[in-house]
Amino acid sequence: MLMFTGVPPLIYYRVLISNLRSVLEAQFDSRVRATGHSYEKYNNWETIEAWTQQVASENPDLISRSAIGTTFLGNTIYLLKAVRTYGREIHMTEFLDKLDFYVLPVVNIDGYIYTWTKYRMWRKTRSTNAGSICIGTDPNRNFDAGWCSVGASKNPCHETYCGSAAESEKETKALANFIRNNLSSIKAYLTIHSYSQMMLYPYSYDYKLPKNNAELNSMAKAAVKELATLHGTKYTYGPGASTIYPAAGGSDDWAYDQGIKYSFTFELRDKGRYGFALPESQIRPTCEETMLAIKYITGYVLEHLY
Ligand code: ARG
Repeated sequence: MLMFTGVPPLIYYRVLISNLRSVLEAQFDSRVRATGHSYEKYNNWETIEAWTQQVASENPDLISRSAIGTTFLGNTIYLLKAVRTYGREIHMTEFLDKLDFYVLPVVNIDGYIYTWTKYRMWRKTRSTNAGSICIGTDPNRNFDAGWCSVGASKNPCHETYCGSAAESEKETKALANFIRNNLSSIKAYLTIHSYSQMMLYPYSYDYKLPKNNAELNSMAKAAVKELATLHGTKYTYGPGASTIYPAAGGSDDWAYDQGIKYSFTFELRDKGRYGFALPESQIRPTCEETMLAIKYITGYVLEHLY
């Protein structure tokens, strides 16, 4: 973009304006035009759903979309599968030659929609609870890993309600079923949360350490070092229970106990200044730095296949 200081002559002013307009328009790629989706803002569910459809149909030999279940309110839980790609980015090309990525853009869709329509800070699902007027279960307390033993509530009115049973929620059941059905091929499980700037690994339902604790620790150490190279964002890392807090029923612990030995939770930016309401200007840099950590983990997993 051209830069002018002071008061420019009219002719330059026109150049500046038209150049600025093309710069602004450049951000609206075909996906933005068609779906309104942008990596620099929060997108509502309708937009994300249209985007999953668009990226799949625009890249038929790279990305396929499937449904792994429906939510309490009947929304479809989509899964994007990315396979081999050619000549885009060198590392991704190599990774995708050797493995597939499965991405669930939003798991708790009902809760996400509610954050747009009624209450920005909603966390739980939107399922009803027998004998209570309170709504929802904390999906990350609903997996069958030390279920409801610590750091979770049995009260449906609480933010960390563990549900009436492990996998009582259609959303957690759908994710758990997908993992169970593909266990032999899944080499790593990453779950992306906000916020705290942490990279966590098992366990959170207990202070006990996982068998490959030393390996997970050195992976996390190297991954957060990579992450920091882009914008200097500092992450802490360690087992969930001692690093953030003991909390049972999380998907990371459950996936690990299923035999997926590389299982991590990312708690993205920030450390509490904006907390869950991170400004949109930080979305893109957050994605870009996190991708460095994800690529590190991917490279490591490829060199340590099991
Ligand atoms: N902020 C996350 C949560 O409370 C931390 C999850 C860490 N893992 C766990 N299994 N508790 O859900």
